[in-house]
Amino acid sequence: MNDFKYRKSELYAEDVPVAKIAERTGTPVYIYSHGTLVRHYRAFKEAFDGYPHVICFALKANSNAAILRLLAREGCGADVVSGGELFFAQKSGMPANKVVYAGVGKTEEEIAYALKSRILMFNVESSEELAAIDRIAGKLKTKAPIALRVNPDINASTHPYISTGLKKHKFGIPIEKALEYYGLAAGLRNIRVIGIHKHIGSQITKVEPFVDALKKILTLAQDLRSRGIDIKYLDIGGGLGISYNNEKGLPGPKELAKAIIPLIKLYDFTLILEPGRSIVGNAGILVTRVLYLKQQPEREFVIVDAGMNDLIRPSLYDAYHHIQHVKKNRRPLKPVDVVGPICESGDFFARGRMINLPRHDDLLAVMSAGAYGFSMSSNYNGRRRAAEVLVRGKEFFVIREREEYTDLIKEIRVPDFLK
Ligand code: LLP
Repeated sequence: MNDFKYRKSELYAEDVPVAKIAERTGTPVYIYSHGTLVRHYRAFKEAFDGYPHVICFALKANSNAAILRLLAREGCGADVVSGGELFFAQKSGMPANKVVYAGVGKTEEEIAYALKSRILMFNVESSEELAAIDRIAGKLKTKAPIALRVNPDINASTHPYISTGLKKHKFGIPIEKALEYYGLAAGLRNIRVIGIHKHIGSQITKVEPFVDALKKILTLAQDLRSRGIDIKYLDIGGGLGISYNNEKGLPGPKELAKAIIPLIKLYDFTLILEPGRSIVGNAGILVTRVLYLKQQPEREFVIVDAGMNDLIRPSLYDAYHHIQHVKKNRRPLKPVDVVGPICESGDFFARGRMINLPRHDDLLAVMSAGAYGFSMSSNYNGRRRAAEVLVRGKEFFVIREREEYTDLIKEIRVPDFLK
């Protein structure tokens, strides 16, 4: 569900014509809907209402401070994977006691920062990391609250790059080793074991993998409790898929809750959820302007002013993003490649896509771009990162200015001998 709809033949973001925003900010521009964001967050809240829980938004999906602040106001916490994301969360008013911290490569500096911030828990991914956290917590004369990220060896049936819960992946601790590692953790002086964590992948479009993984984790949690290791927090990660191409019948938070709560309702856990994409994915679009049409011997190209540096998902995962005209036209439907200006053949948003042939200067909207869009963007090819706008009803707010050329060189230092 989203708030980007046509009125007559013109695309609106809530009550604002998309073209009006593009006129003001220029293109490419990311546009987010306040209403969709709030609704998606509340859908989680309501679905899990009957069970103690904390929703920790996965900042990697989108870390614009305005969006984080909006979520924080709704009561949302954060799932972070770096010191930078922890900093964003704190700056945006997400309370530290609702922050969980995952990732296979936490540095000493990051661990110390998180300890000093008093986050809810570290989701620990290896024995060496556990030892490092213990050592750093000792130095800081504190105890580190931790969960072990357990890899349940469940196939999430998603793109291999965003699947994380199999034996061959770098993530988590193999479930067969979990008891041993928990034993180790429980014996460390500066570690307080409080939870168990799993995350098996992203863009998962069925509830079964969640249920299968949870069952495995629950057996482990029971074992741990019977050994006197107090598991309070059950962190089931993120990963709920969204519709990119009008797919119907995908499970939402309600269906997830329905499948999961019966399995845990007899235990007094606090459930932690780490949704990213399912909150912000369909709450954002990327608007780009057509620069040129170019007929090559074998294909027709629509060259737009956004590139793979702005939205890398099609290039990296062959991901499908729906592309719509901001102003519908009645020109002939033709298969085209919608591509950016970057000097790589992998710089495309769609290939062989049937759309009404656009003209120079038309605006196109790349849909479902709110998650892993801006957050994965870069300055490749010397491109300034896009502007971002938040729409609320009839109003819209620039929540990130487009970068200036000077931003591109502000960290560069040229040694004196070259001056
Ligand atoms: N928790 C952990 C530990 C994660 O690794 C992730 C995503 C999430 C939560 C949030 O997952 P979500 O609810 O958003 O599916 N760049 C890729 C997605 C990478 C996901 C990485 N981890 C994409 O554009 O599809």
